[in-house]
Amino acid sequence: MKAQNCRIDILNDRAAACALIADEVEDRVRFGAVLGLATGASPLPLYAEWTRRHREQGLSFRSVTSFNLDEYEGLGRGDPDSFQSFMDRELFSKVNIGRTLVPPGLYRDPEEAAKGYERQIKGSGGIEWQLLGIGRSGHIGFNEPGSARDSRTRRVELAPETREDAVATFGGLDRVPTHAMTMGIGTILEAKRIVLIGWGTEKAALVRRALDGPITEDFPASFLQLHPSVRVVLAEVEGAW
Ligand code: GLP
Repeated sequence: MKAQNCRIDILNDRAAACALIADEVEDRVRFGAVLGLATGASPLPLYAEWTRRHREQGLSFRSVTSFNLDEYEGLGRGDPDSFQSFMDRELFSKVNIGRTLVPPGLYRDPEEAAKGYERQIKGSGGIEWQLLGIGRSGHIGFNEPGSARDSRTRRVELAPETREDAVATFGGLDRVPTHAMTMGIGTILEAKRIVLIGWGTEKAALVRRALDGPITEDFPASFLQLHPSVRVVLAEVEGAW
């Protein structure tokens, strides 16, 4: 990856890493930017830091609009394992965020539902700052191997390793949804600024492959090399890589 496109910070621990990220985005929060948010374990310490700054320093999210990356098919607010519920629990109920959108998981017509989400992103003026984690398959959002560079929000089939990684959450492979709705690679690359995070050795190896490996649909996070403004923040976990 060309160095001018990408700044990489490697911190000793997740809390320090998330303080750095919260600093970078603080003015955008205060002035009411459109933020792209992610689920999974990786963003949790950032959401905790945002909550702390909201409670202790009065950081207001009132003017923020957020768009989440993805949602499992068949799940919505009524299900504790939906990404909607995850976001409600971990962030939306803890800060005074203005407007929050999560891709629909309950729909009759996936194409219409996907188009509706794209329209909402466009209608907001577009995503200014996008937070990303990375999955074992090389996915960002739920853009699994085979996702095209210009893909948009759509219904996708989850990769076997992605479903395996969700077994603990759902309590059995047969309970893990087989499909999801995700922003596309093209949708993500339209964000003005992207911050990719990863904690520990396994994530560091995935990030390295994304940034230094070939740009290919086989490893969708590699498309981030095509973005003009990516920041990568990595951290050690419990004192070891
Ligand atoms: C999830 C999400 C991704 C996330 C990835 C890694 O299921 N769809 O957006 O980045 O898988 O999750 P984690 O941070 O828990 O490792």
